[in-house]
Amino acid sequence: MVSTVSKQKLYNTRLDLSEDIRAKEIDILNQTLAATLDLKTQTKQAHWNVKGMDFYQLHELFDEMAGELEEYVDMVAERVTALGGVAMGTARLAAANSILSEYNFEAVTGADHVTALANSFGTYAKHVREAIDATEELGDADTADLYTEISRTIDKRLWFLEAHLVG
Ligand SMILES: [Fe+2]
Repeated sequence: MVSTVSKQKLYNTRLDLSEDIRAKEIDILNQTLAATLDLKTQTKQAHWNVKGMDFYQLHELFDEMAGELEEYVDMVAERVTALGGVAMGTARLAAANSILSEYNFEAVTGADHVTALANSFGTYAKHVREAIDATEELGDADTADLYTEISRTIDKRLWFLEAHLVG
């Protein structure tokens, strides 16, 4: 996994993970933080702008999904600080460091927004699954578990989105 986040000076901690391991994890987690913030705002973009006969159910669904992502933003950021790092979570940093493509601003109908979100959720799901393996290899079961929890929800949400597109 290639990091786009600059190296940090870590805080000392009594945590029994080496500085080298923590630094690598903080890099991955800050990358996730940027992508999660980006994905949350994309999901809100869909919540606000979707139109058509399925308006209400999609408007509600997208808001529920954005709420989950908001929780993950906090979980990921606080794992960074627990590991002795600085959470890089401003909108400006998210925009600069996110692995996601920009949202489709032409999207109008439910199908448009569901497709746009499915693309972003797919990219994000891949990143999160790679992060499970990367943090597991670094010997940090807790961070791997955090990623596993996110991954399970994201896979479910991708299923919800893709179920709309069948037929
Ligand atoms: Fe709202």
